Amino acid sequence: MSLQVYKIIHFAGVFMVMVSLGAVIAYAAAGGEKKNFAYRKTVGMTHGLGLFLALLGGFGMLARLEIHWPWPGWVIGKLLIWLLLGAMIAIAYRGKLSGKVQWWGIILLGVAAAYLGGMKPF
Ligand code: HEM
Repeated sequence: MSLQVYKIIHFAGVFMVMVSLGAVIAYAAAGGEKKNFAYRKTVGMTHGLGLFLALLGGFGMLARLEIHWPWPGWVIGKLLIWLLLGAMIAIAYRGKLSGKVQWWGIILLGVAAAYLGGMKPF
């Protein structure tokens, strides 16, 4: 598969993760409980599949770009962001962190990942 195809897969995954997290944050902020969430399965599956596709597309692109181990710093940064976005769904359901911090924080993480992928600063 070409770099372009991997990039579309990467973005499809990222969009799925973002939509899922937005839904859970808004639901939890409105006082909703996980067990009563009618979209729980849809959201859980979308989040999980999205993480997988983001990773698949990301590593596919790394192969096409011939970027191998040891990874440059921006790849490590992206993996950390990916891990944070993975953990975020449980954090969002628990509602311990303020909804607004999560909401804007996730957008910032996405922007940081785009910066790292686009500029490859280190
Ligand atoms: C598993 C971790 C990840 C890896 C290995 C990875 C890898 C990559 C690679 C190799 C590129 C292509 C750069 C190029 O075309 O030269 C890229 C682009 C991009 N990634 Fe990721 N990525 C990861 C996670 C993420 C996450 C979590 C997000 C968003 C939340 C994200 C958003 C983007 C965006 C917006 C671009 C486009 C930048 C551009 O091409 O100008 N990535 N990523």
